[in-house]
Amino acid sequence: MKEKLLSCLVCPACDSPLSLSVHKSDNAEIIEGDLNCSVCAKSFPIIRGIPRFADLEHVESDKRATAAGFGWQWQHFTQQDEKYAEQFLGWIAPVTHEFFRDKVVLEAGCGKGRHTQLAANWGAREVIGIDLSAAVETAFAATRSLPNAHIIQADIYHLPLAQKFDYAFSVGVLHHLPDPRAGFKSMASKVKPGGHVSAWVYGAENNEWITRFVNPVREKITSRIDRRALLQLSKVPAACLYLATKLVYGPLNRIGPGLAKHLFYNDYLSSISGFGWREQHTIVFDHLVAPTAFYISREEFESWWRDIGARDVTIGWHNKNSWRGLGKIWEP
Ligand SMILES: C[S@@+](CC[C@H](N)C(=O)[O-])C[C@H]1O[C@@H](n2cnc3c(N)ncnc32)[C@H](O)[C@@H]1O
Ligand SMILES: [Zn+2]
Repeated sequence: MKEKLLSCLVCPACDSPLSLSVHKSDNAEIIEGDLNCSVCAKSFPIIRGIPRFADLEHVESDKRATAAGFGWQWQHFTQQDEKYAEQFLGWIAPVTHEFFRDKVVLEAGCGKGRHTQLAANWGAREVIGIDLSAAVETAFAATRSLPNAHIIQADIYHLPLAQKFDYAFSVGVLHHLPDPRAGFKSMASKVKPGGHVSAWVYGAENNEWITRFVNPVREKITSRIDRRALLQLSKVPAACLYLATKLVYGPLNRIGPGLAKHLFYNDYLSSISGFGWREQHTIVFDHLVAPTAFYISREEFESWWRDIGARDVTIGWHNKNSWRGLGKIWEP
């Protein structure tokens, strides 16, 4: 943890400022220490460089199960890919990389930290990635050399953060929460008036084949089995996906887009056709490991933005299978 992070932190129980005691540091990084609240006397450890505001042994069982699956996933699939930047900008459009310059940014559910890293490299003044799971270990390793990047282990529902952010975003996280709308509101509550919020979620529309046929298998089997078994099992659908994208969707979209647009799920499958085997395997594993996944309709998604009183809201249909939104927090 970099000491300057302290100015953004508050006690998640009572919103008071925290004081820092350092036990071990390594150059600019605090490796072991404590964050203490003088008002309610709660204390939060810094372990292996990461402030820990969530103890997985004590969170609700549904959230713990989700964190266990994704924690394993992001400690296994730690690879980087040069296509992440373009993919990320697709999820947060119309935001561009210039938008990040000098902003104080929050990423809710940072996983292995790939987007925290991009935001930091695109010139954010500070970017804080939070995640409930052990994915923070990978995210910390990926970002510790960046002076403007910070990683925290915390629950999106109990953010230990002051309302200091110019921009908050969440990609692929809210639909995995027990109450997606409440998670969205919690993230948005940390943005200053006049700041912006982005979110990307799975859509209900056009995903009936998943909700009908894949979800029962995910809920009853794949999210419950041993992760190493799922790692092997998921290679079967991943191989089908890989062959379809490399032999059909990729080539046909290059040579005959007019014909390709009639293919099943073409917008999404062509968007991932440039990824190699490991990334496509990650995508399949990611879909199968989650115990909770909601598919959210446009109507429901729009109501989230009304709930936070956002202005200038732009909602977009991404790859014809998901919703992305950008809105501005009302400034009186
Ligand atoms: C599909 S991953 C997406 C990670 C990252 N946004 C990305 O696109 O690479 C979902 C992430 O949400 C995190 N998550 C799930 N429930 C959470 C909660 N209650 N609070 C914070 N993070 C949570 C998981 O641990 C996981 O890393
Ligand atoms: Zn407190």
